[in-house]
Amino acid sequence: SDVKPTVTQCVGPVYRSEDQKPTAVVSTGVEFDTVTILPQTPQLIALLSIIRNKNTQRGDFIFYSNRIIRLLVEEGLNHLPTVEHTVTTPVGRPYGGLAFQGKICGVSIMRAGEAMEQGLRECCRSVRIGKILIQRDEESAQPKLFYDKLPEDIADRWVLLLDPMLATGGSAIMAVDVLLSRGVPEERILFLNVLASPQGIQNFATKFPKLRLVTAFVDQGLDEKKLTNALSYIIPGLGDFGDRYYTM
Ligand code: PRP
Ligand code: URA
Repeated sequence: SDVKPTVTQCVGPVYRSEDQKPTAVVSTGVEFDTVTILPQTPQLIALLSIIRNKNTQRGDFIFYSNRIIRLLVEEGLNHLPTVEHTVTTPVGRPYGGLAFQGKICGVSIMRAGEAMEQGLRECCRSVRIGKILIQRDEESAQPKLFYDKLPEDIADRWVLLLDPMLATGGSAIMAVDVLLSRGVPEERILFLNVLASPQGIQNFATKFPKLRLVTAFVDQGLDEKKLTNALSYIIPGLGDFGDRYYTM
């Protein structure tokens, strides 16, 4: 079957023995070097457990999704280039550190991707953010591009592409095609994602072997609706992210 078995592991700090740690279902692994999965810490698993719970109300869904998004942005920034940079401290001593190199911008895939903008702004002051509106057609399940508005000099920037859900990969692939058509090199795009399916990772990472993807969790698969033309949900998943964040 297309649905991967669950991976259950002891979760907790390394200094605790296995029998002192609770077990939980952790992310499925992937075989692509370009894909980074956040460390499966107790904090991350507890946050994901809240947003996956169907009884979690919108206020908590927003609050705890935002916390996961913040973790993703912080990890994502580690994949941007830095250069050596020495500063002088107030006591007159040098400190040999690093500085970020190059300009960045965010691009959110509307609507759900807009939920990730705040987390990016909290880490990158006055960051420019472009938008791409892609919606999956309810009948055909095919993604359709409706609108895009991107920084004029986007081809000179690193692009942090934002979408919390990677199901079949159709929407994200279409968004990257838009960025490539504007002259952004594939290797300068970083895709930040909360929850992915193995199929979405496979489709996306095969199509774009130089593009880095950072996700919090790779789930078991897609529900059986993918066999019909209806929209596929990630399973076990968290339902419709956009609906739960904005309207439910
Ligand atoms: C969701 C999600 C992704 C897409 C993933 O958006 O935010 O963009 O589905 O599915 P895919 O990988 O199969 O393309 P949706 O079209 O539901 O719109 P929304 O953001 O308005 O909720
Ligand atoms: N988009 C969502 O919001 N949820 C899914 O499970 C799949 C796509």
